[in-house]
Amino acid sequence: MKFFASLLALMSTAALAAAMPLEARDVYVPPVTYPHAGTVWTVGQTHNVTWDKSDPPVNITNKVGRIMLRKDGLTTPIILQENFSILLGRIEVKVPWVEDGDDYQIVLFGDSGNFSPEFTITGA
Ligand SMILES: *[C@@H]1O[C@H](CO)[C@@H](O)[C@H](O)[C@H]1NC(C)=O
Ligand SMILES: *[C@@H]1O[C@H](CO)[C@@H](O)[C@H](O)[C@H]1NC(C)=O
Ligand SMILES: *[C@@H]1O[C@H](CO)[C@@H](O)[C@H](O)[C@H]1NC(C)=O
Repeated sequence: MKFFASLLALMSTAALAAAMPLEARDVYVPPVTYPHAGTVWTVGQTHNVTWDKSDPPVNITNKVGRIMLRKDGLTTPIILQENFSILLGRIEVKVPWVEDGDDYQIVLFGDSGNFSPEFTITGA
């Protein structure tokens, strides 16, 4: 009984979402091109995070970017860079003092977030 009630609730939420009008704004989430799979960063180094900035829409809702670090599928509170223009296509970040791991990702936030593939950080 409980199961069906929650299923119904879920379905009505989905129906509501589908019925909502499309927002009249251009959401721009460019794909991260570096770091990529196979990239190895050493703690303390500086690297350019890059993303594909071709074809931005005319009216971007949020041009201010932020880059955060993600590990093991979870976004950490570590902010590598913020308050830069998403139209730059690259920004330098300093590799933070984090434990070694091969399951790090960069999250590039503009309107929304975009993850890089998993890469490695060593040297802690
Ligand atoms: C990042 O890119 C800029 C422009 O190409 C370059 O001047 C700078 O040296 C690069 N930084 C690093 C750490 O490679
Ligand atoms: C962009 O925004 C401006 C000002 O709000 C508007 O006049 C223009 O039509 C918009 N262009 C597009 C392509 O949405
Ligand atoms: C972000 O950049 C703008 C323009 O460069 C500046 O006015 C603002 O204070 C900055 N904010 C933060 C949190 O650094």
